[in-house]
This record gives sequence, C-alpha cells and structure tokens, in this order.
Amino acid sequence: MSVRLHVACAEVAPGTVVDGSIDGRFVVVWRTLDGVLVAGEGRCPHQWSPLDREGLVDGEELVCVAHGWRFATDGTGTKVNVKGRRDPKADLTSYPCREVEGQIWVDL
Ligand code: FES
Repeated sequence: MSVRLHVACAEVAPGTVVDGSIDGRFVVVWRTLDGVLVAGEGRCPHQWSPLDREGLVDGEELVCVAHGWRFATDGTGTKVNVKGRRDPKADLTSYPCREVEGQIWVDL
C-alpha cells in the first residue's frame, strides 16, 4: 500500500530524522548526508526506542543512540564495538520510498 506521508521532502534535510508515522504505524524518515531519502519502521528492533527521537544520522547510517545499533539504508543492522569490529544485529524493516513533487510516498 503506497501512502503519502504528512512530512514534506523539504522537512528532511540531509542528516535529519523525522517522525513519519501514519495511520497508527510508526514510521521514521531520514536522509543520509549524501541526500538519500530512507523510510523504515519507527521503532528500533532492539528495545523499541522511537527512532525519530533517539535516532541520529551518521554519514549513510541511522544510529539508535540508546545502545548504538546502526542501520544502513537497506535496514541492515550492525553494532561497532570499541575496537572497531562491526557485528550483525537485527535489521530495521525498511520501506521503499520516493519523492514526488515535494511529497514523500512510502510503500508500507
Ligand atoms: S533500543 Fe535501539 S539500540 Fe537499543
């Protein structure tokens, strides 16, 4: 089901994270520093932190600051330990999204 979010493209500048929840579904929308728009489940798969408030963009990843899990644009979850080793974690459900005439459409 494709839905238009209440968030406009202009509200999601590179490096920002916003709440795109709609119709009772938690949706987070964020834009990488390179400008790629991403939409996904609004709750972290670790302990359900709300990613619109506890998510930060770090380059091309969304980081949940609660415990440091990181999510790639395709939702792949990882965590980097203090020695720099990247370990797999649960993935964030990602939703295909597109920008049409300044509006964001997401396939839920
Ligand atoms: S709740 Fe997101 S990393 Fe723990």
